[in-house]
Amino acid sequence: MIKFNKVNKKYKSTAIIKDLSFTLDDGKLISIIGESGCGKTTTLKMINRLIEPTSGEITIHGKDIKTINEIKLRRKIGYVIQQTGLFPHMTIRDNIEIIAKLEKMPKEKRIQRVSELMEMVDLKEELLDRYPNELSGGQLQRVGIARAFMTNPDIILMDEPFSALDPMSREALQDELLKIQEKEKKTIVFVTHDMDEAIKLSDKIAIMDQGRLVQYDTPEMILKHPATEFVKNFVGKKRIWSSPELIKVKDIMIEHPVTCRKTNSIFYCLNKMRMNKVDSLMVTTEEKKLEGILYAATFTNEKYNMKKAKDFMEEDYLSVHPEDSIVDLAKLVSDIKTATIPVVDNNNILCGLITRSSLVTALSQQFIEEEE
Ligand SMILES: Nc1ncnc2c1ncn2[C@@H]1O[C@H](COP(=O)(O)OP(=O)(O)OP(=O)(O)O)[C@@H](O)[C@H]1O
Ligand SMILES: [Mg+2]
Repeated sequence: MIKFNKVNKKYKSTAIIKDLSFTLDDGKLISIIGESGCGKTTTLKMINRLIEPTSGEITIHGKDIKTINEIKLRRKIGYVIQQTGLFPHMTIRDNIEIIAKLEKMPKEKRIQRVSELMEMVDLKEELLDRYPNELSGGQLQRVGIARAFMTNPDIILMDEPFSALDPMSREALQDELLKIQEKEKKTIVFVTHDMDEAIKLSDKIAIMDQGRLVQYDTPEMILKHPATEFVKNFVGKKRIWSSPELIKVKDIMIEHPVTCRKTNSIFYCLNKMRMNKVDSLMVTTEEKKLEGILYAATFTNEKYNMKKAKDFMEEDYLSVHPEDSIVDLAKLVSDIKTATIPVVDNNNILCGLITRSSLVTALSQQFIEEEE
């Protein structure tokens, strides 16, 4: 766990970092995002003591990093920067191995680890004997990542590692990083300018504005509940629609669907549908457990009137969970014929209803907001 406690940084009388307090949990990827000059790189460099705070403290696993030898500290923390920082006169292999050699990792182990890492970042081993100027930008960034992981540090700092890449290589590297992180579970602090990148990669995002932390939360919470006007503008209104997997069924469902009991008569049920202008009823128990769905279309004449809902309700229905994403939902809606999908929780309690039209309304929202 990395903890910032009331950290300030000043250059002469200019405050660059203002009262920064936040905690980075182990094994998570945290992004720091904000406009140019807001203090992202400064924050990152304070973690490996390339920059010392003016006041406040930073602890790693409870230990004040001021008390740790800075060379030792830096060897325990991987660091990836935009310009890769590879040594031009050294081969790719030597660049990756440099810290491991300083740490006296045995040769066989180094060779094995380098192979493993090359595979992890999806590079061919034949590149190992080349020099940095013989590789593409994307390949160099992959080498930079491999080098950061070489000595297996718990913490990895990444300062806009992908920002100089074309969109295709960038996305490929983002996917690669997600895959690596899935396996390695490092504590990664990732600086970026790009909100889409932060949303895609992060467990949590720290948004900075002029040296202050303005919001620190999960991507979902930041999109749905921006803490300030600044965050709102920074995130942009349409943003959530570019991450539809973050929109949940519970965000767009119709709450309080019209219900009946299975002992109600069909006459009563049809009347209830008419009054509420719906063409189906959710059949539930007193405790709101869903038992079936009753469709108006089943009843073509009055001879049914005296029968009960339980004789006609459809018990074989599809349902969704409130936490399902609308991506899952859209797949389901295109697959099935019915236009009504109940939303039930793990205990089969009815929470809401999705209809084709509620989905369409939710989706069309993005175009309305775009025009504003
Ligand atoms: N050595 C220094 N002396 C004086 N001011 C500095 C120094 N280093 C950085 N700054 C200032 O501190 C502020 C924060 O810089 P920092 O590099 O942390 O920004 P950043 O958020 O990483 O920006 P970018 O997105 O452009 O990389 C900037 O206004 C910068 O000019
Ligand atoms: Mg920077």
